[in-house]
Amino acid sequence: MNQLASSATNHPDTANGLQSILSGNSFFSAGIGLMGFGAGLAILRRGVMSGAGLIKRRMLVSLEIPSKEKSYNAFLHWMGTVPKRYSNQLAVEARGSAKSIFHPPTRSSKQPTPSSLFQLVPGPGKHIIKYKKCWIQVERQRSSRLQDLTTGTPWETITLTTLSRDREIFSDMLLEAQKFMHTAQKNKTTIYTAWATDWKPFGSPRSKRLLSSVVLEKDVKDLITEDVRDFLGNYQWYADRGIPYRRGYLLYGPPGSGKTSFLYALAGELDYDICVLNLAERGLSDDRLNHLLSNVPPKSVVLLEDVDSAFQGRDRSGEVGFRANVTFSGLLNAVDGVTSADERIIFMTTNHPDILDPALIRPGRVDIKAYLGNATPQQVHDMFRRFYGKDDPKLSSEISEVVCGKNTSMASLQGLFVMNKTSPEAALELAKELPQLPKSTPFAFNSQKKPLSV
Ligand SMILES: Nc1ncnc2c1ncn2[C@@H]1O[C@H](COP(=O)(O)OP(=O)(O)O)[C@@H](O)[C@H]1O
Ligand SMILES: [Mg+2]
Repeated sequence: MNQLASSATNHPDTANGLQSILSGNSFFSAGIGLMGFGAGLAILRRGVMSGAGLIKRRMLVSLEIPSKEKSYNAFLHWMGTVPKRYSNQLAVEARGSAKSIFHPPTRSSKQPTPSSLFQLVPGPGKHIIKYKKCWIQVERQRSSRLQDLTTGTPWETITLTTLSRDREIFSDMLLEAQKFMHTAQKNKTTIYTAWATDWKPFGSPRSKRLLSSVVLEKDVKDLITEDVRDFLGNYQWYADRGIPYRRGYLLYGPPGSGKTSFLYALAGELDYDICVLNLAERGLSDDRLNHLLSNVPPKSVVLLEDVDSAFQGRDRSGEVGFRANVTFSGLLNAVDGVTSADERIIFMTTNHPDILDPALIRPGRVDIKAYLGNATPQQVHDMFRRFYGKDDPKLSSEISEVVCGKNTSMASLQGLFVMNKTSPEAALELAKELPQLPKSTPFAFNSQKKPLSV
């Protein structure tokens, strides 16, 4: 244009002619008009975008919840229950892939229908929900490239966006989601197993086992239950004296005497979850063990199953022969939990207390050792009453005489009663067929034995 104007001053006639030709050309004028319009639009668009960005920054607030966060599942499931929800994208979650908490109505509360094997949760995509008079956009995104290495599942995030004046709503929502999860799992025990350096729920939370369903000698049950309760109620006492707030228990005795079952029931009674670890697990190293025991989920009891397996074949003069990659001092350090200031309850179980190193079971590491043995007359009577719902002293004494004489385990006694659900007489007959087993007596721990290491 500048060029055109300057040439117009030099050659007025030519310039006037060109101008009149161009202005007379409707295509040219339309082109110029379009160019101007396009430029105007671009400026407007940029303006709108930066304005929107500004408004977004000033007026909207977002919260991102990655899938590795504990609140992720709680939020997802809670969101499924918000009545004002606008989205058609749902996803089916197999029970167990996430903490399962939806229980579709079942015909009988005791018998799950096939539909209780899955549940509906908001699927990937955008959702709008209305919560406490606020509109919130919920975007669930699933990465196609990133994976959560510990579980092998795609990396996911949930992003919540709302007006910034409503920002407090986020904490309210998360709190409510947490409470919802807590209520849904009130009568459940979550079992965690080790996944790399983390604890992950193993399957869906299971119904609590009643403490009364584990039939033990009364004093053993009371001793441990009361001790754990006493420990849990005395945090300040430990803190005041600078004593590490931890307690260790060893349950020992023949297989099938109820060691594992008792701990599951006890955890249920205390409303605790359980972190199960087997020391013979492949790939378990000192560092991993230490990290795991130092990062136990809140309100969980650690269960080290069959601790003797770590000592099987161990050359007792040194570290050689230790089956897993965990060294003995590594195990002791992890149990001592030098890095942990939190409460810690460890239960160990073993069928072979005789091969445990005294250093592992000294006070401070194991505070109470309890023997759970084969069926005793008292246990047979109690179990009889539980199964047949009545007392029949004569019949239960007969059964107990046979069963105890053969050193039958509580697991076998349970099997005997399950096979004869309606007829204790038939159970007695079948008991006579049970094999005679060697007597199992409580192992006498020799506290004088010199610790082998540490
Ligand atoms: N004392 C007991 N009371 C009730 N059931 C028992 C008892 N001992 C074992 N059982 C039953 O036997 C099975 C195996 O028991 P478990 O707890 O695994 O034994 P352990 O850990 O001592 O080997 C379970 O089904 C459990 O219900
Ligand atoms: Mg066991």
